[in-house]
Order: sequence, then structure tokens, then C-alpha cells
Amino acid sequence: MKISGSIEETRKQVKEWKAQGLSVGLVPTMGYLHEGHQSLMERARRENDRVAVSVFVNPMQFGPNEDYEAYPRDLEHDAAICEKAGVDLIFHPEVEEMYGPDFSAYVDMHTLPEKLCGASRPVHFRGVQTVVSKLFHIIPADRAYFGQKDAQQLAIIRRMVMDLNFDIEIIGCPIIREEDGLAKSSRNTYLSPEERAQAVILNQSLEEAMKAIEAGEKDAAKIRQLITDKISACPIAKIDYVEVVSFDTIQPIDKIEHPVLIAIAVYIGTTRLIDNRILM
Ligand code: PAJ
Repeated sequence: MKISGSIEETRKQVKEWKAQGLSVGLVPTMGYLHEGHQSLMERARRENDRVAVSVFVNPMQFGPNEDYEAYPRDLEHDAAICEKAGVDLIFHPEVEEMYGPDFSAYVDMHTLPEKLCGASRPVHFRGVQTVVSKLFHIIPADRAYFGQKDAQQLAIIRRMVMDLNFDIEIIGCPIIREEDGLAKSSRNTYLSPEERAQAVILNQSLEEAMKAIEAGEKDAAKIRQLITDKISACPIAKIDYVEVVSFDTIQPIDKIEHPVLIAIAVYIGTTRLIDNRILM
């Protein structure tokens, strides 16, 4: 397994593979890898001749008061996980390699980034789209793998690839969870033991919403209320949003009609966690 911080070297390697007729899968990450990331790598490993993983904490997608500095980093640990998953190349650039002093281009979008995480993190998706576009140019892969954990991100990347004609297939992968149902996240490490115990409320509230929908509930407002009530009963949880939207447009809907995304963001103490259910 090769680790490179150089755009030029990485692009050369991937182009060599392509020239040999080998297919390439890309898994973009910000590192501090866990079983969620691993599941993406394993899928990429099964479906491609070569697998590249990018590990880059992208400053452009963090707001001024967010956790860019504090975001956990551990390349040695990440490299061991990639090695185990059969990854061929880790692209791990410095910020200066990705963003030169006069960097001034962006990739942006209307509608899809407006609600959910985009409402509380106004510059976030512009940063994600810009860095993912750069990664797609640096690593011209056949397929790129994204988790449904970040459902709005997945919808935005799919839309960006479609609208801007990127020659890459986007593969969405299921959410990997802890045994008690908490979605795996690099940010779970911020939680104190008490907060960690309470954090199950996200998945539990979504589970109850799914039961109500399976029992025939079609009113999106009632589903939102059910989730809100359940989370509000937890004293250290503070809701950022509870939304029922179309998975295509990420705009609110009144009736549960597929494809629907039920998405929540909740502060447990000071840590903001997200979770969701998608009904295709
Ligand atoms: P990061 O949070 O490191 O996540 C990288 C990928 O792993 C994303 O596609 C995310 O949805 C997926 N992932 C995270 N937790 C998961 C889980 N529990 N189950 C399944 N998949 C999971 O998302 C980003 O980085 C960045 O925004 C990035 C796309 C790399 C751009 O900087």
C-alpha cells in the first residue's frame, strides 16, 4: 500500500492503473477511520481492481466556530485499517497541497444544500462539493463510495455528478452502527460515558418513527412530532433539526411518499450527531 501527499504522484499512479485497463474505486474520507468507513472500502475492494482512499480533513467544509482544529486525526491508525481492507493507495495531502494561496474557485448548488445540515452549517456543502470535485479530478476513479449516514451529502454528490457530467458512478452504502444502534462516527469520540449512553436516543427515535410508518402513518408532521417528543424527553439532548424531506430534492414534504428521507441532527452535550432513515 502506497501513501502519497502529492497530487501529481497520485494522479500519475491512478492514470497508470487506468492505462493498464484496471478499474479504480475511490473512498473519500476525513480519516479517523472506523467500521463505517471500512464498509465502504470493503465494498470498493469487491467491485474494483484498485482502491484509493483519501484522508483529508477539509478546512473548507468547516464553519468558523466548528471543530476543524479539534477534529481527530491519526494517520497511523488509518493506514493500518486501510492495509487490512486491502487498499492500494492512500492520498493524504497537506492543506497547502489542496488549497494554494490564491485559491478562489468553488462548486456550489442551490436547493439541495438549503435545508437540514446546510441550514445550520451554511458553508459546509460548498466545501464538500469543492473538495470532492478536486478529488474526482485528482483520482479519476470509475466509482466513488459514500455512506448513507450523510444522506444529504450523498444526494448532493449524486446531483453534482449528474449536473456537471462527472464520469464517475456514485455508490451509496448503508449506515454501520454500534451494537446499541448509535451510528458510527469519528465524532462519537467526543462523547463522555454518560453522553455516549444517552446518544442512542437518535436511533431509537427513528426506530419508533419507522414503526409508526409501517403501521400506516403517512402524515410527515406527526412523524416529526413523534421524534421530537422522544428526543426532548432526554435532558442532555438538544434538537438541531428533525425533518421529513424528499430524498431527491431535500425539500420538506407533507405526506410520506417515497423516496423519503427522515433526517435528524441532535446535540448531545456539545457534540452534534446526525442520523436518518431512507425509504426508497
Ligand atoms: P467522513 O465523515 O470521514 O466520512 C467519509 C465517508 O464515510 C462518508 O461517505 C460517510 O457517509 C461515510 N460514513 C461515515 N460514517 C459512516 C457509517 N457509520 N456508516 C456508513 N458510512 C459512514 O463525509 C466526509 O468524511 C467528508 O464530507 C468528505 C466526503 C470526505 C469530503 O471531505
